[in-house]
Amino acid sequence: MNRNLQTECPVLVTGGAGYIGSHAVLALRDAGWPVAVLDNLVTGFRFAVPDDVPFYEGDVSDADLVARIVSERGTRAIMHFAGSVVVPESVADPLKYYANNTAASRALIAAAIEAGVPHFIFSSTAATYGVPEISPVSEDAPKVPINPYGWSKLMTERMLADVAAAHPMNYAALRYFNVAGADPQMRSGQSTAGATHLIKVAVEAAAGKRDSVAIFGSDYDTPDGTGVRDYIHVSDLAVAHVLALEALIADPGRSLTMNCGYGRGFSVREVLDTVDRVTGAAITRTLEPRRAGDPASLISDPSRIRATLPWRPQHHDLATIVAHALGWETKLAEMRNAEGDNG
Ligand code: UFG
Repeated sequence: MNRNLQTECPVLVTGGAGYIGSHAVLALRDAGWPVAVLDNLVTGFRFAVPDDVPFYEGDVSDADLVARIVSERGTRAIMHFAGSVVVPESVADPLKYYANNTAASRALIAAAIEAGVPHFIFSSTAATYGVPEISPVSEDAPKVPINPYGWSKLMTERMLADVAAAHPMNYAALRYFNVAGADPQMRSGQSTAGATHLIKVAVEAAAGKRDSVAIFGSDYDTPDGTGVRDYIHVSDLAVAHVLALEALIADPGRSLTMNCGYGRGFSVREVLDTVDRVTGAAITRTLEPRRAGDPASLISDPSRIRATLPWRPQHHDLATIVAHALGWETKLAEMRNAEGDNG
C-alpha cells in the first residue's frame, strides 16, 4: 500500500483504549495511518493510547461528538471495538449488551453514513456461532449464538450488511476466536482487572496474583478431556484489521466477513503446561465442573482470511503468546506498584 493512500484515509478507532482496540491503534500507527481514538474509558485505560494519538473521551452513541471527530480528523474509516465483552454478564444483564453493543453500534453506523465515512470495520466474535456442529468452523456455518453477547454482535453484523447494500459504505466484520498475548514491545496488553480468560488467568497465577487455576471440565470429548480453543495473538489480530482496511479501500464494492484465528486448537491443559514451560515453575491446577455454555472445541477455519488478505501471522507460537501475556502482567504489576508509591 503506498503511503498516500494511508494519509488519505484517517482512521477513527472506537474502544481504542481497550485491549484489542489499543493494539489496533499501534498497528495502524506503526504502518503510518493517521489515527484518532474515541473511548469512554469505562473499561479502557488512557495510558493504553500513545500520547501523540488524538484522544476523544465519550460514547460512540454520541452522534454530535462522532460528527465533530469525523469533521476535525477527516475520518474515512471507522474501526469499531467499543462495547461490552463479558459473556456471563450479558446473560445477567442482556439489555446492557443490546444498548452498548447493538444500539450504540446502530448510532455509530448512522453517524458514519450521515458523515459519508466510506469504510467500517467491526469487532465481531466467534460467539456468533454458538456451539458449532462442525469444528473447524467456517463463516458459512449456522449462526445461533447461545448468549446475548453473541446476539448483540450478530445483530450488528446484520445491520452492517443491510446498510452497506443501501449506502455507499463497505465493511469488514471480523469474528475473533480466543484473543490473547500482548504487544511484543510491551506498549499495551490486557489490563482489565477480574479477567476470566484462560491465558490471562494463567499468567496472573504465574505472576503470583492468584493461588491456582481452575480447569473447568476435564471430561469433554477432546484428546485430554479439557476444552480446546484457537488462541490468536492480539498483535496478529490487529494487523488483520489493517489489512482488512486496505482490502476495503481497494474494492469499495466489496464487504468482508472473516474468521480471525489460526485454525488450530490447544486444550486447557496444553495452555497451562505451556505457561509452566515458559516460567520454569508449576501453576497449581484444580479440577472444577464444566462452565455453563462452554463448547468442547472452538477452532476457526481460517481459509477465507488466508485467501482474502496477505495476512502472515508473526506470533502464532503458543509459547510466544504466553510469554508476551506474562511480560505484560509483569509490566502491569510494576505500573501499579509505581502508582502505589506515588499515591
Ligand atoms: N477455562 C478454564 N479455566 C479458567 C478459564 C477458562 O478451564 O479459569 C477454559 C474454558 O472452560 C474454555 C477455555 O479455557 O475451555 C477458554 O476459556 P476463555 O474464558 O478463555 O474463553 P472462551 O472460549 O470462553 O471465550 C471466548 C471469547 C469470548 C467469546 C467466546 C465464544 O473470549 O469473547 O469465546 O465462545 F464470546
